[in-house]
Amino acid sequence: MSLFSRRADRHRDEETGRAADARPDPLGPEGEVGDGPETRPGDEPTGAPRAGVPAPRTEGGAGGDGRDGGQGTDRGLDGEPVTGNAPPPPDNVVVELRDVYKSFGPKEILKGVNLAVERGTSAVVLGGSGTGKSVLTKHVVGLLTPTAGEVWVLGDRVDLLDQDQLDRKRTRLGYLFQGGALFDSMTVYENMRFFLDRLTTLDRGEKDDLIDESLEDVNLPETLHQYPAELSGGQKKRVGLARTLILRPDIILYDEPTTGLDPVSVRVVSELIVQLRDTRGISSIAITHDLLAAEIITDQAHFLSEGRIVANGTLQEVRRSDNPVVEEFFKGTEAYGAA
Ligand SMILES: Nc1ncnc2c1ncn2[C@@H]1O[C@H](COP(=O)(O)OP(=O)(O)OP(=O)(O)O)[C@@H](O)[C@H]1O
Ligand SMILES: [Mg+2]
Repeated sequence: MSLFSRRADRHRDEETGRAADARPDPLGPEGEVGDGPETRPGDEPTGAPRAGVPAPRTEGGAGGDGRDGGQGTDRGLDGEPVTGNAPPPPDNVVVELRDVYKSFGPKEILKGVNLAVERGTSAVVLGGSGTGKSVLTKHVVGLLTPTAGEVWVLGDRVDLLDQDQLDRKRTRLGYLFQGGALFDSMTVYENMRFFLDRLTTLDRGEKDDLIDESLEDVNLPETLHQYPAELSGGQKKRVGLARTLILRPDIILYDEPTTGLDPVSVRVVSELIVQLRDTRGISSIAITHDLLAAEIITDQAHFLSEGRIVANGTLQEVRRSDNPVVEEFFKGTEAYGAA
């Protein structure tokens, strides 16, 4: 039996009933407060949505085998795609960056990034530290806007959306931050409750059920009343993932989901990501330095260097690239990747 079947059933019910309550903004309290785990409730983003959350669009056909993730019917916001008159990507492409440039002052970070993610697949972005991988993914959730270029997500150009449209688009996206971003002063339960309290109008019993179920999804029900400091690195990542999952996103962005973990935990977290793809049809973009994680997760790999995608394809294809930076990267990670 699928690990997620119970929740999937529950959510199908919600889609006909209380779906508006069950699909709040996925960025949640950590959405615009940075990557660090030291976030506190008082640090909430100013632009975050409130309880009573933006209503999602109806998802006819959702709840099938999960592979589709219910994304097939809703192109554009309010029925009118925000395209800026550019031709949208084909239906099977859920995220596309077209010739994206990003500068911070004189610092050019992205210099013409092109990248597409097909529905129900896991894309992995590889590259050295400081090359712009996090910057790239922040464009997908609208935390950054490009200096030039187009950022397409589920049929709309997020670089052109206003705040209200962006809030609604974000109900479809989950973002697992590099640091996990749990509130240190709160237990796991309180962290998740805080998230749901702010973003939904579900009653207490429903919230508690969602919390229990989503911790079961990541096989950590026993951590409910523990504080983040009492959890291992891998457990923290999985709790962060549980909190992202509670909002039932169609696309999840994982920023270094396995960094700092031992190989066993790397495998557990990576296999969880694959399971989400296979049982829920969640499309994803994962940033990683970790070759073991990449080997487990990757459908399509994209190697970022000097502001551009210099190699893409399967992991094997990227590994065979003769770009010297790519060669160096794989040489540096070979020993671990082969473990
Ligand atoms: N908001 C910002 N303002 C100015 N510079 C920024 C901002 N965000 C990122 N940068 C710069 O962009 C560059 C790329 O940063 P980014 O965080 O995307 O790197 P990364 O590839 O994710 O690195 P790592 O693997 O270490 O996480 C860095 O030089 C960083 O200082
Ligand atoms: Mg980063």
